[in-house]
Amino acid sequence: MAPLLDIRNLTVEFDTPEGTVHAVNSLSYSVEAGETLGIVGESGSGKSVHILAMMGLLPMPPGRIVSGEAWFDGQNLMDMSDRELRAVRGGQIGMVFQDPMSSLNPVLTVGRQLREVLVRHTDLTGTKLRARMIELLEIVGIPHPEARLDQYPHEFSGGMRQRVMIAIGMACNPRLLVADEATTALDVTVQAQILDLVRQLKQDFGTTVLWITHDMGVVAELADTIQVMYGGRIMERGPVSPVFRTPHSAYTHGLLKSLPDEGARAQRRLYQINGSPPNMANPPKGDPFAPRNPYATERCLNEVPPLRDVGDVPGHKVAAWYDLPALLAQENEVAK
Ligand SMILES: Nc1ncnc2c1ncn2[C@@H]1O[C@H](COP(=O)(O)OP(=O)(O)OP(=O)(O)O)[C@@H](O)[C@H]1O
Ligand SMILES: [Mg+2]
Repeated sequence: MAPLLDIRNLTVEFDTPEGTVHAVNSLSYSVEAGETLGIVGESGSGKSVHILAMMGLLPMPPGRIVSGEAWFDGQNLMDMSDRELRAVRGGQIGMVFQDPMSSLNPVLTVGRQLREVLVRHTDLTGTKLRARMIELLEIVGIPHPEARLDQYPHEFSGGMRQRVMIAIGMACNPRLLVADEATTALDVTVQAQILDLVRQLKQDFGTTVLWITHDMGVVAELADTIQVMYGGRIMERGPVSPVFRTPHSAYTHGLLKSLPDEGARAQRRLYQINGSPPNMANPPKGDPFAPRNPYATERCLNEVPPLRDVGDVPGHKVAAWYDLPALLAQENEVAK
């Protein structure tokens, strides 16, 4: 079966006073129907920009889609008109962003905002429409949904607002739910509740999920497949357990090493890898992580590695010239 989403060769740039920012570089990946893909990577790795480009939401200018296709359910989103894309967004593809641009409108009641999505994408009217609005708030675990419909976003807590966003994202039973940092601003308890909710929605409706986060812990809990991005490229990708157990990219290894323990997590301390992210207006010539990678070779500094199969686990791929498990094994030998 063809994948539900198939992104091919997507390249996105921004024209800035500092020069051309190479935000997304020949990005290709696919998501199977029913799969949950977790995308991680430090700030600026191109996670949001590639989604915005795909959904027709990239600010152009300064943004520019240099090349690429994004096949969704047999149609190339890149070829669609604004009108066609508007029909897909919120309809077949639900979106939950932390970004205020697409979050709730403060001057409209929550009911009104839910109604707008439903009216645009379904033919529900009257009591059926209202019943669906109430049902959606129930699905996302909002108590007293009838009364809540007439309230404004500021009358909801952060966690409840995020649930409303998910209700809107899920309103039209999308085939694909795209969430970008949807739980980042929430405390750990609320975050855990939202993740439970998404798991439930997947189970009940078979929704395919693309979940973008900074948090490896969230990926471990929610995703089937992890995709690690850096410098607008995929560094590593594969089924969650094998990638966590045996990372092949030094970047993934760094992210996992710096995974905070429960205490640090509660304080929301983020991971730390030595050095800073690349300046994408003047990106490294070779492997973008090479300047920060203690295992980098001459070749890493000069040549971009292709994404290759790791070998033993189907679907586990890495973009690296070096053999990380072998290097780590050597280190262990020396340490003995
Ligand atoms: N409007 C813009 N103008 C210029 N550069 C931009 C713009 N939006 C994004 N970029 C650049 O594109 C690159 C990718 O940014 P993107 O927002 O996709 O990162 P991200 O992985 O989503 O990071 P974060 O984890 O912080 O959300 C960065 O170098 C960023 O500075
Ligand atoms: Mg982002």
